[in-house]
Amino acid sequence: MKDNIVLIGFMGSGKSSVGIRLAHALGYEFMDTDHYIESTYEKSIKDIFATEGEEAFRKIETDSLKELSKSLHHHVIATGGGMPLREENAALLRQIGTVIFLNASKEEIYSRLKEDTTRPLLAGENPMQRIEALLNARLPIYQKAADATVTTDQRSFYSIIEEIQKSMIK
Ligand code: S3P
Repeated sequence: MKDNIVLIGFMGSGKSSVGIRLAHALGYEFMDTDHYIESTYEKSIKDIFATEGEEAFRKIETDSLKELSKSLHHHVIATGGGMPLREENAALLRQIGTVIFLNASKEEIYSRLKEDTTRPLLAGENPMQRIEALLNARLPIYQKAADATVTTDQRSFYSIIEEIQKSMIK
């Protein structure tokens, strides 16, 4: 049933931090798909990438989403940044909720994640270049998968949440 709100978007776009506050504002539960995977598989995302590789992680992501979609109601769901890349996942997300794309600029993402060591896709040389390349490739996918887009650059949680709520009434 479509009674959830699903947040999609790039790493560092604010899905978890906004999601927790949005859930509180709506009286919904909060669920983070990365945390679900880490507790189910008893491994960090970083370790899954290191030991099993990205493809294995993507399969785990799809399996987890299928499992979660059977039971989630009145949840705000923060998804991993790569979740909507598989069309199968994007379709499932649309089935279970209103999909909101949290958009942020590459500069904002870089500034939020420059000290972060938990994102394997941004590890290594020149993270700004990685962010730019991945963001350009993913932008049309996020836009296509979403019912509405909300920009999070230099905005308060209050204003972001207000815009999400308005976009849900439309
Ligand atoms: C990924 C985003 C991460 C996590 C994994 C892969 C991606 O989640 O799922 O590192 O492909 O963008 P966040 O968006 O919560 O950082």
